[in-house]
Amino acid sequence: MCGIVGYIGKQDAYPILIKGLHRLEYRGYDSAGVALISADGKLNVYKTKGKVAELERFAADKDTSGTIGIAHTRWATHGEPNDVNAHPHYSQNGRIALIHNGIIENYGVLKQMLIGKGYTFRSETDTEVLVQFIDYLRTTNNCSLFEAVQAALNQVIGAYAIAVLDRDNKDEIIAARKSSPLVIGIGDGEYFLASDATPIAEYVKDVVYLNDGEIAIINRNKPFRIVNLNNIESKIDICKLEMNISELEKGGYPHFMLKEIFEQPRTITDCIRGRINVEGTDVILSGILDHKERFLNARRIICVACGTSWHAGMIGEYLFEDLCGIEVKVEYASEFRYRNPVVHPDDIVLAISQSGETADTLAAVELAKSRGAFIYGICNVVGSSIARATDSGTYIHVGPEIGVASTKAFTGQVTVLVMMAMMIARLKGRIDTERYESVLRGLLAMPEKIKEILSQADRIKEVAAIYTYARNFLYLGRGCNYPTAMEGALKLKEISYIHAEGCPAAEMKHGTIALIDHEMPTVVIATNGSIYEKTISNIQEIKARGGKVIAVVTEGDTIVSHMADHCIWVPETDEYLTPLLSSIPLQLFAYYIAVNKGRDVDQPRNLAKSVTVE
Ligand code: F6R
Repeated sequence: MCGIVGYIGKQDAYPILIKGLHRLEYRGYDSAGVALISADGKLNVYKTKGKVAELERFAADKDTSGTIGIAHTRWATHGEPNDVNAHPHYSQNGRIALIHNGIIENYGVLKQMLIGKGYTFRSETDTEVLVQFIDYLRTTNNCSLFEAVQAALNQVIGAYAIAVLDRDNKDEIIAARKSSPLVIGIGDGEYFLASDATPIAEYVKDVVYLNDGEIAIINRNKPFRIVNLNNIESKIDICKLEMNISELEKGGYPHFMLKEIFEQPRTITDCIRGRINVEGTDVILSGILDHKERFLNARRIICVACGTSWHAGMIGEYLFEDLCGIEVKVEYASEFRYRNPVVHPDDIVLAISQSGETADTLAAVELAKSRGAFIYGICNVVGSSIARATDSGTYIHVGPEIGVASTKAFTGQVTVLVMMAMMIARLKGRIDTERYESVLRGLLAMPEKIKEILSQADRIKEVAAIYTYARNFLYLGRGCNYPTAMEGALKLKEISYIHAEGCPAAEMKHGTIALIDHEMPTVVIATNGSIYEKTISNIQEIKARGGKVIAVVTEGDTIVSHMADHCIWVPETDEYLTPLLSSIPLQLFAYYIAVNKGRDVDQPRNLAKSVTVE
């Protein structure tokens, strides 16, 4: 949802900024731009519609010199994606340039005020209003850039991570955040700033995560300072980055999504490492242990999440209710935050988010917090806003997920939810040793089982080729594979642009079955488990109406494999672990269909990875 990057130091800024934009392109890719101050004090701004590669072509014959600069890759909110609406935006006197991730909600009022003062606007964006407003305050108050930014932000309503340059001061960048992420890398006489650590990781290890309401004064000749909106100096809390650069590259795969699907045996290993002992006899999550009483006495668990993370939460509902005997609600964060939800002080709110920056989930967390609930985070990005807003939590540790369609984060989230359910069930004395250890051993065996499925990628590719014609798909599952079916449908929709619907298998006959004909394929998850026989009846209902069935079944299955048109086999496992296996062929199936259709798999249209606006 827009990526911002900045550099000030001894090196040429442009190559660093462009590389940074490529790393952040997953956050938005409808236009890109850069602003640099050259040694002779010129502010050069280049911006263009399209991806970062377009910007590079556009700027190839231009003056890109300078050791200070800011750059932006956009996911449009206000104004269509075009050259004019692209960032950076600059004041009409050409003095101040600014990049922005977020939304300025009161931009209309400010714009009218500025028009009254003689300002004219080139773009339709809220961001241009902010830069002109800063310029206005700077000129009328005859103050420093920092003071003008501080004064402006005190009057702005909305969300922002910004970086601002002044043509007349090539030694300084002012950066600030509220509800949109911003991390600053501190090097030897140089500073990097970015929406996340991926553009920074190869240069420095020391980083500072800016907090809401903080403004950073980054000056190459003066000590680094952070001051808040009330002009109080903040303590500089330096964190160490632990990021492996190879995780940010495609590593020989044609797409990040495929690489991330194939990484899952390793990411699940990383997720359970140090949490389940090698014998598979115990699981310990320190986030739960430290708050044991909270979990033992929880009235309810409320999961708040969006998209894929919401599907993981739905799987959590089956686990926590059955295994732990705790009532569970699973809420779309975007709805929860605008309802007047009943939240009790003895409720536990599980915030599930890969990025840890999703605006709706963060707002749901703040709301639940204000009502006294205990907040537990399941995040991937270490140090992210949601992770920092929670009382406790468990990181999924699957490494950076760059493909816009979430894959390894989903299996990481489900793995954490299973471990949580096991630990709570054990603490509550609700699970016998045999089942407890069998599920834990099942988790330990998961990486090898996923490898087995991945070894069938060519067969899944063949099946995908047969069904690439389809314009609609139905995905069915039951029990904890109902959310898995919804997740499979979402994967197909977002990267292939084929309409797909996930539905509980038994619910189909109450309406959705009317869609079935020989042109509409149905993907059915029919793995072994307590409702296997019922799912068989649902498959028969589809076949009786001429529908095509692609079934995900357990190895050795002889019944469904005779009924379905095509089968994909997954190894046997505990019923509650089946989503970890059945989701893998669905990810590959969606991937190969999207590739066959020539889609931009890693950067599908209209989407962005980190949704930091409402
Ligand atoms: C789908 C997808 C999205 C995200 C959703 C929440 O593949 O990636 O549906 O799951 O935007 O994002 P996080 O988990 O970062 O809060």
